[in-house]
Amino acid sequence: MAMVITLDGPAGAGKSTVARALARRLSCLYLDTGAMYRALTVKAMDHGLSMDDPEAIGELAASTEIGLVPDPDAMRVTVDGEDVTQRIRSPEVSRSVSYVARVPEVRAGMVRLQRKLGEGSCVVAEGRDMGTVVFPQADLKVYLEASARERATRRAKDLADAGHAVDVQVLEAEIRQRDHLDSTRDVAPLAAASDAVRVVTDNLTADEVVDRILDLLQAAGLPRHTGS
Ligand code: DC
Repeated sequence: MAMVITLDGPAGAGKSTVARALARRLSCLYLDTGAMYRALTVKAMDHGLSMDDPEAIGELAASTEIGLVPDPDAMRVTVDGEDVTQRIRSPEVSRSVSYVARVPEVRAGMVRLQRKLGEGSCVVAEGRDMGTVVFPQADLKVYLEASARERATRRAKDLADAGHAVDVQVLEAEIRQRDHLDSTRDVAPLAAASDAVRVVTDNLTADEVVDRILDLLQAAGLPRHTGS
């Protein structure tokens, strides 16, 4: 059945793990919208664009085809047909993506694509503006939060697992910088929708957060199981 659950919040609040697990549990599509902004960032970097040149980035976006396979078990993202699923996680992309994501022409195209991907399906949509801009009529809106230190520690672990050496303090500073850019940009700044349920994840495991969201679904009279 068609149902939209939005998961917004700052970097490292646990959105990806939770969104993926939730989509799996509900047999829904998993819309990793950050991956889409990251994919365009890969292309902007490959083209040697300056992150201080929003006009060039906007033009690039207009001639770029982003593809997303919204499968919680096998999410893939492509740019003009090229699979960049691995490359989007590099620290270089993480450092630059906020600059790409703040360009209005970039966001307009992404929003269109995200709505199209979610049309008529059950989706768990993860990002920064899912509940506020992309799916304002979502069935359930969740805003995940965690302290900056906790988020940096989690991200450091993820990066270490992926083979990238990182310094937690540097990461924490980068996360604060990214939060600042994401929450002060003119278009669709990071913010909780007024009707979103806030969940602080500092002392919760991903499974506990998923269970809490399933309880919220039940409390809202929505199915805890879809599909088969
Ligand atoms: O969730 P993430 O770390 O993959 O997001 C990457 C960047 O993209 C981050 O700077 C926020 C931005 N973003 C956004 O502006 N809107 C979204 N819907 C998703 C991500």
